Amino acid sequence: MFDLSAPAAAGGTVREVLGHFATGVAVITAGGPAGPLGFTCQSFVSLSLDPLLISFSPARTSRTWPLIRTAGTFGVNVLAAGQADVSAAFARSGNDRFHGIGWSPGPGGAPRLDGVCAFISCELWNEYDAGDHTLVVGRVLALGADPAQEPLVFHRGRYRELVPGLSAHVR
Ligand SMILES: Cc1cc2nc3c(=O)[nH]c(=O)nc-3n(C[C@H](O)[C@H](O)[C@H](O)COP(=O)(O)O)c2cc1C
Repeated sequence: MFDLSAPAAAGGTVREVLGHFATGVAVITAGGPAGPLGFTCQSFVSLSLDPLLISFSPARTSRTWPLIRTAGTFGVNVLAAGQADVSAAFARSGNDRFHGIGWSPGPGGAPRLDGVCAFISCELWNEYDAGDHTLVVGRVLALGADPAQEPLVFHRGRYRELVPGLSAHVR
């Protein structure tokens, strides 16, 4: 058992507590007039099946999101196990994030990175104020996945891999 605190009292532990929610890692990409754009994002989530919607949340300070918004269409690259270096490259500040990374244009022109688990092509549906982040909702235009790939997992500030043998089918 563990103690519960109000967020203010929890202070520096807020991130630590919320970090217990394990996620995959995605790179959101788009084509831009000055070259391809992309940033690393763990806030990607499937949202609605009808219409088919996804969401993710860029920080208000994001330099890349306003440029992707202008493009209007974007791609969600779901990173595979072994792509922690790709995640790190797209989380770095600077404009050389695609250096040394293979990609090809997906439907709509957004970069589809080599070796990813899944790629989801989207158009901007809406965006909402979410405090110091923006909640972006995208409508899915096309999608595909490589079932042979294991995902990259992010948990408590670290990259992880799925534990073999712990899988159970949803009934
Ligand atoms: C694993 C991981 C997950 C991240 N998830 C998010 C996220 O969901 N939203 C966000 O705004 N930044 C996220 N970041 C941080 C951005 O990738 C990073 O701040 C990047 O430099 C933002 O670039 P930009 O200012 O060009 O948009 C994440 C970084 C890592 C390493």
